[in-house]
Amino acid sequence: MIDQTLIDNNSKSIYDALSSATPIYDGLMSVKNVHTDECCKKLENFISNLTENQWSPESTPNKNMNKYRNRHRINWQSDSIIEELSMSYNAVTPLINKIFNHTKEKVFIGLNIWKDTEGFQTGLHRDNDIIAVAMQIYQGKNVPKNCGTRFEIENEMLHLPYEHNSGYVLEQADDIQQRLVHGTSRPTPKDCTRLSVYAVWSYPEFKD
Ligand SMILES: [Fe+2]
Repeated sequence: MIDQTLIDNNSKSIYDALSSATPIYDGLMSVKNVHTDECCKKLENFISNLTENQWSPESTPNKNMNKYRNRHRINWQSDSIIEELSMSYNAVTPLINKIFNHTKEKVFIGLNIWKDTEGFQTGLHRDNDIIAVAMQIYQGKNVPKNCGTRFEIENEMLHLPYEHNSGYVLEQADDIQQRLVHGTSRPTPKDCTRLSVYAVWSYPEFKD
């Protein structure tokens, strides 16, 4: 059964995190303390009870990128913390549209939980055109800080760290060539489970 109080509290927490986000560069912000403690605990518990075969291998939609290796995802499970997280992110859509207004009206299209294990890395890339705004929130206290995400900004690499319940939100230009080039900061080390929530807003034509 869905816990509406958890959803309401978590929506408020995401809303507050977005409202106090730190601007990094045009369209890129870092966010902290995103989910409530209750949500983090419920997600941690949910993940610890999953069996290996409930995770699906992630594939990349971008033909020019290397195939993802050692990234798995959970993208939907009704009546679970995944549905509660989805409803929480959906509820902050008006704020997403207010903050990120360079592109047309966006709708929330869903989220994944990603689990990256030893050797996982993405090459530097620009996101595909389905993504208008992406928000990645790390979930885990035992991952080195330097396992975050790097962004190419004015020919320099800016690394945003992996920190529990923190991450970044990135608005994507309509012109793919204008989108920020980014990728993982380093391959996921041995004995490390790099978990994150990845929420996406897009345009109505891409919904469902
Ligand atoms: Fe990306």
